[in-house]
Amino acid sequence: MALPPALSSSLSLPVVASPLFICSGPELVIAQCQAGIVGSFPALNARSTELLSAWLDRIAEETAGFAPFAVNQIVHRSNARLEADMEVIVAHKVPIVITSLGARPEVNEAVHSYGGIVLHDVITNEFARKAIEKGADGLIAVAAGAGGHAGTQSPFALVQEIREWFDGPLLLSGAIAHGRSVLAAQAAGADLAYVGSAFLSTTEANTDDAYKQMIVDSTAKDIVYSNLFTGIHGNYLRGSIEAAGLDPDALPESDPSAMNFGSGGNSKAKAWKDIWGSGQGIGSIKQSLSVADLVAQLKVQYDDAVDQLVGKTA
Ligand SMILES: Cc1cc2nc3c(=O)[nH]c(=O)nc-3n(C[C@H](O)[C@H](O)[C@H](O)COP(=O)(O)O)c2cc1C
Repeated sequence: MALPPALSSSLSLPVVASPLFICSGPELVIAQCQAGIVGSFPALNARSTELLSAWLDRIAEETAGFAPFAVNQIVHRSNARLEADMEVIVAHKVPIVITSLGARPEVNEAVHSYGGIVLHDVITNEFARKAIEKGADGLIAVAAGAGGHAGTQSPFALVQEIREWFDGPLLLSGAIAHGRSVLAAQAAGADLAYVGSAFLSTTEANTDDAYKQMIVDSTAKDIVYSNLFTGIHGNYLRGSIEAAGLDPDALPESDPSAMNFGSGGNSKAKAWKDIWGSGQGIGSIKQSLSVADLVAQLKVQYDDAVDQLVGKTA
């Protein structure tokens, strides 16, 4: 199936930058779109629905003529702003809406009412089927090693199972921080790569300087998978868990019913603010760059990987 124009038009690289709680705001999104990839942010990063509306005005103005942008909605009962934020999204005709932590037909219908598309993120093939049944247009397969609320399945297994029945837009995420991995996502069967952690250390990200430095200094061995902080399993930086006075190798299990995306779950240390999320791919991030330079670097790596592959198969 052909990709909808919002995902195929004028991208410099087949990449959607993923929403990052706290860390992605208008500066990051605008820089991502201007660099030729889809930029995104969680609606909840704007402190109020009114501020969300102001952010969308600014983003629409400054990204006109560049790659499209996306807004992420947390479709979970802990998100008291869902309906009010949806009204703002509809009024602004946001081109792409990314839904996570729940699929709701009325959210999909609202986005379709003005011609927008919905991408829903899933960690299993079963959730993928449900999301499409409820009206999502495309899927984001969140595989093992992803930052934030990650899955545990191999990207090869997850993409292959979904591709057996779904030929619509499919994005792959999890530890993609190098142009070679973007090409690998496409080879595995995805249309585009969904990249998060690689942007945490960029100049435009709303990330603490110490967090940026920890991304630059850390590698896959520094990523800890735990459900303690939000009630759902996710990947976090070992150094931030230690700084909060906890032993990353002996974290207790959380009670899933205490799940609250933006709160401390079962721990005093607050997820995202004190406990810093990151995927396993950050070994490829050697310095803090501007978004334009990072995307340019990914593009060179991607083109080199294409050349190497053609050389191998010729
Ligand atoms: C610090 C951080 C915050 C995140 N916040 C959100 C969020 O608010 N909404 C969401 O859908 N995903 C969120 N994610 C997950 C990303 O959207 C994406 O699935 C993930 O970053 C992809 O894996 P990667 O980080 O290895 O590239 C977050 C990830 C990180 C690292």
